[in-house]
Amino acid sequence: MASGRDEARKLAAEYFRQLGEAGEAEVYMPSGEMRTRLEGRASPVASQSGTSPEPSAATAPSRTDARAAAPGVPGGGSAPAPPKTPDAPEVEIIRVKLAFSSEATTSDMFAKSTGLEACTTLEEVEARTVGCQNCELAGGRTNVVFGAGNPNARLMFVGEAPGRDEDIQGIPFVGRAGQLLNKILEAAEIERDDVYIANIIKCRPPNNRTPLTNEIEACIPYLGRQVALIAPKVICTLGLPATQTLLGIRGSMGSMRGKMYVEGDVKVIPTYHPAAALRDPKYKRPIWDDFQLIKREYDSA
Ligand code: URA
Repeated sequence: MASGRDEARKLAAEYFRQLGEAGEAEVYMPSGEMRTRLEGRASPVASQSGTSPEPSAATAPSRTDARAAAPGVPGGGSAPAPPKTPDAPEVEIIRVKLAFSSEATTSDMFAKSTGLEACTTLEEVEARTVGCQNCELAGGRTNVVFGAGNPNARLMFVGEAPGRDEDIQGIPFVGRAGQLLNKILEAAEIERDDVYIANIIKCRPPNNRTPLTNEIEACIPYLGRQVALIAPKVICTLGLPATQTLLGIRGSMGSMRGKMYVEGDVKVIPTYHPAAALRDPKYKRPIWDDFQLIKREYDSA
């Protein structure tokens, strides 16, 4: 039977193949186990382990730091690493009042009193969502998709809204976008069971359209309480609606990603929604770069 590591390698190889199809010339494993050069659409060929990769963009997180931080990776400790410069900012760090924090002034969406503050467990909050009629999406749902994962997660992912598969199963990110998210998590050596995954709204919008402002406003107190109870140190927002809602700012994904938004010891790292990469492979590379930052911050949280 294939070991977990073999399986992860297979998934990573598949991910590299997809990057190759997207026209990437060269990709790097965050573990440093291999440096892979992709020639056109050819299959990836692993070169000698231990080759030190160069960063490809000024804002890209340090791959060598991620490698050094990756626990238990064969060869990870022996690969020559460039000198660490922990003080050198690798990404732009923006100090903010996060929209969901108690001190936020940017958005009062999260501050509305809903009585959810009385819920001291995720189960209690979930029980409050079951019969929720706060917006018209209640009429079309099969299931409320509350969220899933480790209630003590240091890393939380926040997506947009349930799709068809999620609505049927009542679990976030189980459809095609979820399967891609799983592959990215595996390649980044992040266990899905260790993190928590939720959406800004809990019910599926018709035809998977973007959530409306009134729907987000009606639903966001649930997410606010989830975040307060889980108290993650790193939050990755997937896509524009989640990023704008949690940061309380307007902007394009291109302008907001590649940066880290920090309040106290909480870091928000936005990236493109995996569904964007399913539609257009050009998003895979920036997503991968963002995941290296996520991995690094998660490992040190
Ligand atoms: N897209 C999302 O944003 N969330 C899901 O749960 C599934 C797809």
